[in-house]
Amino acid sequence: MHNHHNRMKKKTIALLIILTSVSLVGVILIQLYWVRNGMKLQEEQFDNKVKVTLKSVVNRMFDQRDFEPVDPSVCGEHCDRRTLQILSAINPVRLDSLMREEFGGMKITREYAWGVFNPKSSKIISGNAGRYKSELLKTNHSVSLSCLYRSEQLMLGVYFPGERGVLWSRIFPWLLLSFFLLAVMISAFSYIIFSFLKQKKLSEMKTDFVNNMTHEFKTPISTISLASEMLLNPVVNESVERTRRYAHIIFDENLRLKHQVDQVLQIAVLDKGGFHLKKKHFDAHEAIYSCLKSFELTVRDLGGFLNFKPEATEHRIFADENHFKNIINNLLDNAAKYSGSYPEIQVITKNNNGMLVVEVYDKGIGISPENQKHIFRKLYRVPTGNVHDVKGFGLGLYYVKAIVEAHNGFVNVKSELRKGSTFEIHLPVELSSEPINEIHEPESQDITG
Ligand SMILES: Nc1ncnc2c1ncn2[C@@H]1O[C@H](COP(=O)(O)OP(=O)(O)OP(=O)(O)O)[C@@H](O)[C@H]1O
Ligand SMILES: [Mg+2]
Repeated sequence: MHNHHNRMKKKTIALLIILTSVSLVGVILIQLYWVRNGMKLQEEQFDNKVKVTLKSVVNRMFDQRDFEPVDPSVCGEHCDRRTLQILSAINPVRLDSLMREEFGGMKITREYAWGVFNPKSSKIISGNAGRYKSELLKTNHSVSLSCLYRSEQLMLGVYFPGERGVLWSRIFPWLLLSFFLLAVMISAFSYIIFSFLKQKKLSEMKTDFVNNMTHEFKTPISTISLASEMLLNPVVNESVERTRRYAHIIFDENLRLKHQVDQVLQIAVLDKGGFHLKKKHFDAHEAIYSCLKSFELTVRDLGGFLNFKPEATEHRIFADENHFKNIINNLLDNAAKYSGSYPEIQVITKNNNGMLVVEVYDKGIGISPENQKHIFRKLYRVPTGNVHDVKGFGLGLYYVKAIVEAHNGFVNVKSELRKGSTFEIHLPVELSSEPINEIHEPESQDITG
């Protein structure tokens, strides 16, 4: 039921993401469409204005034709009879000044090149086209001059160099602004999605944690309640042997409970950041050895083995011994928990760059590279679908990392799925003036014997 609900929710979220993305793309497309449309409209408007101007120029030429005979100097050297004929009908000097007037009147202040040309033969007869001759022939601002000169299809055209540029520069700030707004929207959207997913993951982890804790606490509590009930039974009370046994169960279970509560409470202290390290000089090998001693029973019960190779030559450290032992216990606990049936665990110490390195090897289930990035986070447990057959709070490695870093050290994990994992802690070796007590230990010792 819960699973089904979850899947439904996931689908809704995916749908929402897709819908929003599609709308965003839609808005962008509409935006582009309107920009294009706006440019086209502006172009058309300008084109109309120019056409009207040109028409009025031609009209005024028509009204004033025949008044002034053409000055042959305007046509230069290559003046044939036909050209002279055209030029006397369409006086270029007049045309130029008329155009200047009309364009001025229409408030068209841009630079322009103009010319009288024959579109069929692509020949420019007069005007000042300058270097824009080919552009002028292709211009879309032109009017027919058939009312002035009938014998040939002549056109009067203008070309505005940088016409597109002007349009673009007018639209560019708006385009920039809308791109900026879009970028803001997209990043805000992704941020929301991202933090939502993160939040969701966190809440899932918390639910997991609470479920786990409830379960972990329930077992000892019910055991204690059963055992104490037995103690209250007068029949049981008569036998000292049985009384002792039940008292022992209560004591052990209570210890376990205390241990678990401590573990959770410790994290609260870690989070506050104000924890105190009671540092002192001690021998790390001895501390590790004592952890292994109390752990070997667990491993032997499971049919595995535990091996210790103390290879470090500098193994006296200045640290909080209690926390150090907790760290080792946490790593050993994980190595055993995530090893399946027969844990094969090896602990090796080394010196590297003035640091004491403690490596805990196992040949267990391993951790995928993706999950390796997260395992040191609070409450994080490698997802195993909906069943967690191995109990835990996801606090162990968070604690390990926090404490090791508080000692100016660092942690490291190397792991391959189904092959096994190695956790390394690196702690600085304090080169103290204290004399080092040589402790003679065998090269390698198998604790489980
Ligand atoms: N040696 C290991 N081999 C494989 N996976 C491991 C190993 N150590 C840790 N993990 C993975 O990393 C996760 C986080 O480990 P961590 O010790 O922080 O939490 P936990 O063991 O689940 O709970 P606890 O708080 O009781 O230690 C584990 O849930 C497990 O999935
Ligand atoms: Mg653990």
